[in-house]
Amino acid sequence: MKNISLNIDKVTGFVTKEQIIALKPRVEAAQKALEEGTLPGNDFLGWLHLPSSITSEHLADLKATAQVLRDMCEVVVVAGIGGSYLGARAVIEALSNNFASLLPANGPRVIFAGHNISEDYLSELMAYLKGKKFGVINISKSGTTTETALAFRLLKKQCEEQWGKEQASKVIVAITDAVKGAARVTADKEGYKSFIIPDNVGGRFSVLTPVGLLPIAVAGFDIEALVSGAQQMEKDCAPTVPFEENIAAMYAATRNALYADGKKIEILVNYQPKLHFTSEWWKQLYGESEGKDHKGIFPASVDFTTDLHSMGQWIQDGERTIFETVLSVETPNSSLTVPTDTENLDGLNFLAGKHVDEVNKMAELGTQLAHVDGGVPNMRISIPVLNEYYIGQLIYFFEIACGISGYVLDVNPFNQPGVEAYKKNMFALLDKPGYEEESKAIRARL
Ligand code: PA5
Repeated sequence: MKNISLNIDKVTGFVTKEQIIALKPRVEAAQKALEEGTLPGNDFLGWLHLPSSITSEHLADLKATAQVLRDMCEVVVVAGIGGSYLGARAVIEALSNNFASLLPANGPRVIFAGHNISEDYLSELMAYLKGKKFGVINISKSGTTTETALAFRLLKKQCEEQWGKEQASKVIVAITDAVKGAARVTADKEGYKSFIIPDNVGGRFSVLTPVGLLPIAVAGFDIEALVSGAQQMEKDCAPTVPFEENIAAMYAATRNALYADGKKIEILVNYQPKLHFTSEWWKQLYGESEGKDHKGIFPASVDFTTDLHSMGQWIQDGERTIFETVLSVETPNSSLTVPTDTENLDGLNFLAGKHVDEVNKMAELGTQLAHVDGGVPNMRISIPVLNEYYIGQLIYFFEIACGISGYVLDVNPFNQPGVEAYKKNMFALLDKPGYEEESKAIRARL
C-alpha cells in the first residue's frame, strides 16, 4: 500500500541539499531526545507512541459510546477549543461530503461550540437545537477553559430542559482530566460517561485520544483505520529509519534550513476545500509549539485555487520571507469530466473530456512553477487519497515532525505559556475572584 510522501525538489534552488543534510545531527539529536525524554517538555510526550499503544478495547469503548449518541441524537454538539477542538473538526471535514450540512443526515450532525464567546453564535446555536434530540461531548483537559465552560453551561441547561435530567445524562459525554477541573467534578456528579485525556498528552497533540476519536466516530468515520494510518507513520518515522528516508526528519530539517535562510513564514496550501480545517489544526500545532522565545516560523494557510484570486499576488510578488508546503491529494474520491459544448461559447472545449481533477492538478503545477520562479520555495506532501488511513498518517507525520522541529529550533515544543496572557487580562476585566490586584492594575491602564 502507498504512503503519504514528501518532495523537496523545489526547495533546493533556495537552500542546498548540503544545507539540509547539515541539519542531520541536530534532527537526529532532537529525535533521540524525544525518544529518551531528555529535554524540556518531556512530561508531555504521551503522543509519541500513542498510535501503537491504542488497544482494541479502547476503540471498542469509544465506538460503543459513539453508537449510543448516534442512536439517540439528531445532533451532537462538540464543545471544545484549540487542541480540544481542531483535530476532530479537521478530520471530520476532510472526510465529509463538501455539502454534508445541506444533505439528508446519515447519523447525527456533528457541530461545534465552545471555541468562541460570541453571543450571536451561542444564541443561534440554542435556537437551532430547540426541539431537537441533541447530545453534547464536552471536551476540556483543564476543565476550566472559559469559552468551553460557558458554552457547556448553556448546552447542559438546554439539554436537561429538553430531555429531562436523567435522559440528558445519557447523551452528555465528558472528555477531561482524570481528577482535576470543573468538567471532571460535573461529569462525576451527574454520572456522565467520561473519557480521560492522558496527563502527558497536550491539547494540540491529542487528536488520537478520545478528544478526536470520539467525535470522529460519532460522525460515522472509521477510527480503526485512522489509528492504523498513524501506526504506519509511527513506524516509518521511527528514529531507526535513516534520515533521508524519514519524511518527518526531512520535513523538520528542510523547514529549519529555510528558516535559517530568512524564510520566516510557512504557508500550508491545499487544493481541496475539505482540507481547510486540516490547515487550522496544523497552524495550532506548529504555531503553539514553535512560536516562543521570540523565535518560530509563522504558520499561515491558504485554500487554492480560491485564494490565488485574493492572496496570489502577495505570494507571487510580496516580501520574500515565505515558503509553501502543499498538501496534494493524488486521486479524488469522485469522477467528473468536462462536457463538450457544441457552441463552445465559453471557449472551454479545450478542456472537454478531461477530468476536473486534471485541471486542478495543472493549476497546482502551474502555481508551483510560478511561485518558485517568484522566489517561493515549495515542498509537496502527497496524500494518495482522502480517507481515514491517510489522514491518520498525515496527523502522526505532522506531530512527530513538529516535535523534532521544535527541538531543532531549541524551544520547548510542548508548553504554551503565552496563551495565559489574554486570559489573565480578561479575568481581571471581568472581576473574577482572585484577580483583584490585576483588576486594579489593568483598570489604571484604560
Ligand atoms: O494545545 C493546547 O494545549 C490548547 O490549545 C488547549 O487545547 C486549549 O486551550 C483548550 O484547553 P482545555 O482542553 O484545557 O480546555
